[in-house]
Amino acid sequence: MMRALALAIFSALVSVQMVVVADDDAKDKPAANAYAILNKYCGKCHHEAHRGNKDYDVLSLKSLEKVTPSATVMKKFPEGKSYLVPKKPDQSLIWLRAGVKKDMPPRDPKPSDDELESLKKWVEEGARSQ
Ligand code: HEC
Repeated sequence: MMRALALAIFSALVSVQMVVVADDDAKDKPAANAYAILNKYCGKCHHEAHRGNKDYDVLSLKSLEKVTPSATVMKKFPEGKSYLVPKKPDQSLIWLRAGVKKDMPPRDPKPSDDELESLKKWVEEGARSQ
């Protein structure tokens, strides 16, 4: 009897734990969303595995934040400070090209307004990697 009760309490605790984990997953959605958008619309040309892109990999937060764009690239977009500046979409080249000038990707399929909005929101909220 005690054993059954202990088991019941134990399983109840386990399910509470599961709920907490599910909540964390929900919080991580903006990152998964941004990743999916970048993968779908930019990955083809700006992802190392696809094209051996040495400049930057649009699916690697580290390379987006750390790689300094070339002087030519910076000249075209003087307000851009790097490919990705967390919390500052207006200084992030990926946003300036995809959401402001809208010349990236250069051809269809292009991200919808909703997708662009969620990409911008992700940068504004700190561009968390997960
Ligand atoms: C069909 C291929 C293709 C796709 C898809 C594409 N790009 Fe590009 N991208 C290019 C090419 C080619 C250049 C170099 C010429 C230029 O700067 O216009 C470039 C340049 C850039 C640059 C300038 C920096 C640099 O190092 O040259 C940024 C930033 C950029 N792309 C962001 C994006 C983003 C963000 C997406 C997705 C929303 C995207 N691109 C999708 C082909 C692509």
